Amino acid sequence: MVLNKELQDAIEKNLVFLATASKEGVPNVVPVGFARPLNGETILIADNYLNKTRQNLDENPRLSLIPQDAKAFPFQVKGTVEIFESGEYFDQVTEWAQNVMTELEPKSAILFKVEEIYSVQPGPNAGKKL
Ligand SMILES: Cc1cc2nc3c(=O)[nH]c(=O)nc-3n(C[C@H](O)[C@H](O)[C@H](O)COP(=O)(O)O)c2cc1C
Repeated sequence: MVLNKELQDAIEKNLVFLATASKEGVPNVVPVGFARPLNGETILIADNYLNKTRQNLDENPRLSLIPQDAKAFPFQVKGTVEIFESGEYFDQVTEWAQNVMTELEPKSAILFKVEEIYSVQPGPNAGKKL
């Protein structure tokens, strides 16, 4: 299952919520503005301020995301991440963040590989894998 163009646009243009879990299973959710699909299977995230989120991803590289506007886009995206503190993805995230706000200094680039998409639409398909 891949992100369709509409969902890619929704992720790029609006806030998303990122849910992670520590190795003990303690959940953490944060809003993030800098999330940009590179294609239907990969989302690039700028880590400007992530703390517990980053620690959780270091311990357990699994991520779940929902768009802020879940009413319009009732999807839950799940997958695994790779974290880059230098190189092509890090440079891309730095340029992107600094084009928006010159003072931003991303700590890392998070490459989120989409593996599963579920519906969260209330009704008979709630929670069903797409
Ligand atoms: C509207 C909004 C947008 C945000 N966008 C980002 C972002 O794009 N990147 C980022 O690293 N943090 C962003 N943050 C900050 C994180 O949500 C959060 O403060 C940070 O991850 C620390 O929380 P944690 O310790 O639970 O990870 C944003 C916060 C708000 C309120």
